[in-house]
Amino acid sequence: MEDKITLSVIKADVGGFVGHSAMHEELLDEAKARLGDAQKEEILVDFHVTACGDDLELIMTHHKGVDNNNIHQLTWEIFESCTEIARQLKLYGAGQDLLSDAFSGNVKGMGPGVAEMELKEREAEPVIIFMADKTSAGAWNLPLYKMFADPFNTAGLIIAPSLHAGFHFEVHDVKEQKRIFFNAPDELYDLLVFIGAMGRYMIKAVYSKNGNIAAVTSTQRLALIAGKYVGKDDPVGIVRCQGDFPAVGEVLEPFTMPHIVEGFMRGSHYGPLMPVSVNQATPSRFDGPPRVIALGFQLANGRLIGPRDMFDDPGFDESRRMCNILADQMRRHGPFEPHRLPMEEMEYTTLPQVMKKLQDRWEKLPE
Ligand code: F6R
Ligand code: MG
Ligand code: MG
Repeated sequence: MEDKITLSVIKADVGGFVGHSAMHEELLDEAKARLGDAQKEEILVDFHVTACGDDLELIMTHHKGVDNNNIHQLTWEIFESCTEIARQLKLYGAGQDLLSDAFSGNVKGMGPGVAEMELKEREAEPVIIFMADKTSAGAWNLPLYKMFADPFNTAGLIIAPSLHAGFHFEVHDVKEQKRIFFNAPDELYDLLVFIGAMGRYMIKAVYSKNGNIAAVTSTQRLALIAGKYVGKDDPVGIVRCQGDFPAVGEVLEPFTMPHIVEGFMRGSHYGPLMPVSVNQATPSRFDGPPRVIALGFQLANGRLIGPRDMFDDPGFDESRRMCNILADQMRRHGPFEPHRLPMEEMEYTTLPQVMKKLQDRWEKLPE
């Protein structure tokens, strides 16, 4: 439908510069040129290309709806041509997230992360796109809970008539491929039973009580798709703001508490999620600490007016400082839990290969 616009955020790590720390300019240029062509051909209304750490982030608007073959094909081809450049420059991990050679119509389940929503633009439509590096798909559970269900974070849940009814949460079980819906605030305790376990249960979307989409996330878990460790998922998410939704400041506020997420070095450690500007989204210390960036746009008939780099604000300086203090404290644990992930999560890293070599050395305890 022409009066609806689709916002698609599709990302992949197709090669890092240097190591896994950042993105090379030539890959960004290639993606911009390709999306520019697609805009001229009127496949896209608008686009913005950026990077979070070693992840190439394609932000696009169009009229084709979510899960559209043309859009997914376009992004897959861009990731392939960027992989080719990454190979020429011998960047690190070229093509890392493209888990298949054959494109099948939808990039879901093939490596790239995807968050898409179709919406009817309001008179003014502020959206924030969150993108993270060196962390896992469950990283949005806590901030989304705070934005849409915690009155200590979102004053509007109490004060604003438009938010007072609460929100509707769609939660996915990514291991069993099932989903469940909860109403907040009436079913908050039921919701928290699941979303506190971020490795398995993920908030896929949030809706207002009248059914309007409020937020959507990527829930792709690379290790579950590939059956082995291939780097962390590095998720993305889209949140609508103001009016019937939390205000921009309420949407950003959860990131002042640096929460602890999976990821960091070798995708095998817990560390604090640091809110940073795009320029500072280059995790170098112990391949971390994990980063999150937030780009704000006003949509204008599909045009992406912006971005504003929302964490480029001294208001987040203390959160960043706290992240460094927390990272120091976690790092002092070295290979010990709870810095290193618990054994059941290490199953999806490279550690089992090392353990296999030692398995025959175990003896029964004497009676
Ligand atoms: C984390 C990540 C990096 C790598 C690490 C080792 O998501 O991608 O921390 O796991 O740099 O990389 P390799 O094994 O490729 O040398
Ligand atoms: Mg990488
Ligand atoms: Mg990455």
